[in-house]
Amino acid sequence: MSQKRQILVTSALPYANGAIHLGHMVEHIQTDVWVRFQKMRGHDCHYVCADDTHGTPIMLAAEKQGITPEALIERVKAEHLADFTGFHIGHDNYYSTNSPENRHYAESIYRTLKNNGKIVSRTIEQLFDPEKQMFLPDRFVKGECPKCSAKDQYGDNCEVCGATYSPTELKNPYSAVSGATPVLKSSEHYFFRLGDCADYLKGWTAGSSLRSDGETQPHLQAESLNKMNEWIEGGLHDWDISRDAPYFGFEIPDAPGKYFYVWLDAPIGYMASFKNLCDRTGLDFDAYFGADSKAELYHFIGKDILYFHALFWPAILHFAGLRAPTGVFAHGFLTVDGHKMSKSRGTFITAKSYLDVGLNPEWMRYYVAAKLNARIEDIDLSLDDFVARVNSDLVGKFVNIASRAAGFVTKRFGGKLADSVGDTEILARLQNEAASIAAAYEAREYAKALRDVMALADVVNAYVDANKPWELAKQEGQDARLAEVCTVLINAFRLLAIYLKPVLPKLAEGVEAFLNVSPLNWSDADSLLLGHTIMPYQHLMQRIDPVLIEKLTEANKQSMETLTAPAAAGNPSQQWEPVADTIAFDDFAKLDLRIGKVLACQFVDGSDKLLQFTVDLGFEQRNILSGIRKAYQEPEKLVGRKVVVVANLAPRKMRFGTSSGMIVCASGADDQSGLFLLDADEGAEPGMRIG
Ligand code: MSP
Ligand code: ZN
Repeated sequence: MSQKRQILVTSALPYANGAIHLGHMVEHIQTDVWVRFQKMRGHDCHYVCADDTHGTPIMLAAEKQGITPEALIERVKAEHLADFTGFHIGHDNYYSTNSPENRHYAESIYRTLKNNGKIVSRTIEQLFDPEKQMFLPDRFVKGECPKCSAKDQYGDNCEVCGATYSPTELKNPYSAVSGATPVLKSSEHYFFRLGDCADYLKGWTAGSSLRSDGETQPHLQAESLNKMNEWIEGGLHDWDISRDAPYFGFEIPDAPGKYFYVWLDAPIGYMASFKNLCDRTGLDFDAYFGADSKAELYHFIGKDILYFHALFWPAILHFAGLRAPTGVFAHGFLTVDGHKMSKSRGTFITAKSYLDVGLNPEWMRYYVAAKLNARIEDIDLSLDDFVARVNSDLVGKFVNIASRAAGFVTKRFGGKLADSVGDTEILARLQNEAASIAAAYEAREYAKALRDVMALADVVNAYVDANKPWELAKQEGQDARLAEVCTVLINAFRLLAIYLKPVLPKLAEGVEAFLNVSPLNWSDADSLLLGHTIMPYQHLMQRIDPVLIEKLTEANKQSMETLTAPAAAGNPSQQWEPVADTIAFDDFAKLDLRIGKVLACQFVDGSDKLLQFTVDLGFEQRNILSGIRKAYQEPEKLVGRKVVVVANLAPRKMRFGTSSGMIVCASGADDQSGLFLLDADEGAEPGMRIG
């Protein structure tokens, strides 16, 4: 083997307030395949990750759940770890940015930057929530779009017309945290002088590093470099790295009440996780992060966070007297059936739901790897294609090779392979491709690597069809030939298993047990297995049952909001009321809920809250006054629809007439969350009882 390389690899740190979904998994699969490949090549390769735990959304999510941020991030970390382990992601350490190591490095890097003149402070004005007594991040200010007047838009961009703006431009702004009207307030902030780093970054982004095996590694992919050039040419602005209390994060040294912005300490979390690993295993931290480190450092990330990794991070490392990355590898986004993952379509697929319905993680690892290349392209998970591809490639082409040969070896030859084979050509062909398949893995061209492996599997299956072991088995005097053909097949299978092992580590374990060999490394492809006794074949992989795919989309249609952090997702103001005291069935039976049909609905003169309904309950018509005008401003549109009515509520005399019953609505704990009438399925008739 060539020079042994020292390699440190990371995946981006997932936020600690949401579930791991298949998009995250694409990144961890891409990284894990690369790391497993490097390990199989005999290099020292370490793979670290962590949860990204700091910031306002996590602080507020914890508050809403009535727990401390520490309790929230601890629970989420356990969930994340279970998901990653379930997909056989082999992190050597999975840590947390809320760790003593991270605090240490964040502080020391900050101090060095400050001593190097790279930190300045400046007073800025920002929107402040006077009720909650906190500054509001852009995403926590809502209001009307300054361009198109769409309501309830976020402070940074409008989801209706696509306009981008600053939160101070919103019309009728309100705090998504408390609903209060925000006010402008000034405060001192600390900035990293990124504007001062342009020369260094021009060099670094266009540059490359020499690997310890003598190869040249460009720091960025061509597409990333173009993007970074645009940004650098457009002028780099100083970067605001501080936030005011209350904030969940690390307090800035000598700056009481000021905290590091989450994106400052997040990438430092890569170092912290590695330091924690070093302390456990005796690895030399400085050999990897010192300014003159010869080790290689690679970050696998999504295209949305390039700015942080290809500009801020190298600049911070460099000006803090540390080494910069050897390479930043960005990938595109996962879409499902051609669309952005969507909760309502059931295509926002959590890793947990995938595992829970009983889908094999290696199916997804294979499918994703078979679509990945070294460019920044989105990759689509087509669920039909997923089933077809996995069944045809993994089961039809690969696993079948073993199942077609192994039975004869066990039954006819006591499990023993032939001592030599005459058909060396086909095996030589497979062995000769080891180098080019390795080159494809190294270059993150997994799609090419797997295409080549499957082309070899086709060659092997053609050999099976040409030599028909099942016929040899029936013929007199063909024992030696049968042994030879089966030995060729088992060896071909072993070679393919080596090439697939970075993608299918669990299956490879099964193959190693079946072949009765120690863990396979890349260099094992140089040799053959002859005169060796293998174990009886046991099924290595099932086909995908399409029913599981239905179960998967079904599982993900259910209320995702409760699984992931509400603060990060749709509605940051959502709060759940505690469930009311338990009641006996008899208590429930006292409620007489009926289907009603709206015959008429109109505004009530003099009231800005009420709507007046005439509702058909089948057996009678009712006059009902309901305080939902704010949510339903076009009452005529409600005519004809079905509603749910509390039919036995005592009539209530109001200023605007008597209300006989109540129409039920769904609502959140605060007024910001809206009011929603319930609907009944086709076939439900006015007067039907609900219960
Ligand atoms: N916490 C930051 C990263 C800090 S790294 C120092 C973050 N977290 S994230 O949870 O939002 O995303 C984690 C990674 O998952 C990112 O690299 C992101 O690009 C990736 N993905 C999130 N959704 C994705 C898809 N739909 N498809 C592919 N990758 C996706 O950003
Ligand atoms: Zn708009």
